[in-house]
Amino acid sequence: MTISSSLMSDDKGFGKAVYIATYGCQMNEYDSELVRSILAQAGYVFVDGANEADIVLLNTCSVRENAHRKVYGHIHEIRHKRQGRPVVIGVLGCMATGLRQELMDDRALALDLVVGPDSYKRLPQILTAIRAGLKPAPTLQGARYPMITTTMEHPGYDVTLSEFETYADVYPTRSAGVNAWVAVMRGCNNFCSFCIVPYTRGRERSRPVENVLDEVKRLADDGFKQVTLLGQNVNSYRHDGKDFAHLLDEISKIKRIARIRFTSPHPKDFPESLIRVLGENPKVCKQVHLPLQAGNDRVLALMNRHYTGAVFMDLVTRIRRACPGIALSTDIIVGFPTETGLEFNDTVRLMQEAAFDSAFIFKYSVRPNTEAERRLKDDVPEKEKTERIVRINKIQTDISLGKNKALIGQIEPVLIESVVLSKGNSVYGRNDANKIVVLPKGNFKPGDMVQARITAATPHQLKGEPLAS
Ligand code: SAH
Ligand code: SF4
Ligand code: F3S
Repeated sequence: MTISSSLMSDDKGFGKAVYIATYGCQMNEYDSELVRSILAQAGYVFVDGANEADIVLLNTCSVRENAHRKVYGHIHEIRHKRQGRPVVIGVLGCMATGLRQELMDDRALALDLVVGPDSYKRLPQILTAIRAGLKPAPTLQGARYPMITTTMEHPGYDVTLSEFETYADVYPTRSAGVNAWVAVMRGCNNFCSFCIVPYTRGRERSRPVENVLDEVKRLADDGFKQVTLLGQNVNSYRHDGKDFAHLLDEISKIKRIARIRFTSPHPKDFPESLIRVLGENPKVCKQVHLPLQAGNDRVLALMNRHYTGAVFMDLVTRIRRACPGIALSTDIIVGFPTETGLEFNDTVRLMQEAAFDSAFIFKYSVRPNTEAERRLKDDVPEKEKTERIVRINKIQTDISLGKNKALIGQIEPVLIESVVLSKGNSVYGRNDANKIVVLPKGNFKPGDMVQARITAATPHQLKGEPLAS
């Protein structure tokens, strides 16, 4: 949809067409939906590209260095493409809080606003203030407003982190679909030594159970079949003495919601009650993302992860015992400061032992102000990090393939998500374990639950045939 911005302007003649680009994790996807809802209430409209927009908001991620570089690249590209035509450009999300001053001071970026994840309700007010208060910039091509020099007084600057903001009173504007993200808690108190998130998103806080239930009921009314509960540390959810296991059970009572997923849990917050819900509640999907990060105990301690390799493996065993066939995925960081080749072998060994269905493997990258940045030297050479990542990826690909092949011949319920892109004669959905299953198109539509026999497998997806009904 393209809307001419001249049709949509406020009484001062400022266009109200907004383009939001989202980077990073699902929490940021969710936050962009919150921002859409907040701005729509204030009369803003949304366009599909930066070129047609009056306001471009980049909801950013800082978790690894390349995430961060991508955002810089995008801002420069927008400025270049606009060729001097005015546009308000703002940075939201984790980079806004993480890099605050640096972003504001960067003359080449020439940002108009920098707003952190707890200040989105102020966006309409902030946009009005910067647009009303500032005159066109005489110097920089493409920048409509003078560049920010003193951050504190600038109306476009708000990176305050809140101990309370959960956006419980905002119903996000989602595009129609099968799955809806629902943030049930925000922030992180864990301070893993490599991670910037506790600094960019502040302290943990959870939404009331009733408030989450109201949102999920509304989602069911809107036709969503699956909810994925989100939190930086989702299983540390707690409100008025009610924990995450309780929340899952309560949500599962909502009739038209067929599946419940959640991400990301921390291995240290996995009580027996939660394992029991995973095993016993049929709506809670048999899939858990359980970030291991490293297999060596010295490295895990330096990472401040609060478990050893043995404790992690014991958790894996208990989850699998309660929930046979459950799919487990993980995150791994290779080349954490001081990690030796021998210590890395412990990660390889644990990966083989745990036999995850899939894994996201990252090279360690230094993040500003983290404990690892302050106390340790990034001393594993780039070449060594590359060798470790290649080695572990190969091992994981073989494990993933073996796991997927073992499903051939089995009958799996598949929740249809979409028609497959390329030829349009297939549809895809996901099984309970969150694996993609491609099926011949038939008459299926998104939201249908189809019983399918698995006929083929690659490391990353399955093929199936629907059973005759
Ligand atoms: N809250 C989630 C993780 C969020 S970040 C959790 O605890 O599971 C997602 C992943 O990015 C992390 O699990 C970690 O593997 C990776 N990551 C975080 N900081 C990193 C860094 N400095 N370098 C490399 N990878 C990092
Ligand atoms: Fe980062 Fe650790 Fe918190 Fe996850 S649990 S967001 S890795 S500090
Ligand atoms: Fe990135 Fe922030 Fe998510 S740093 S991974 S967008 S919590």
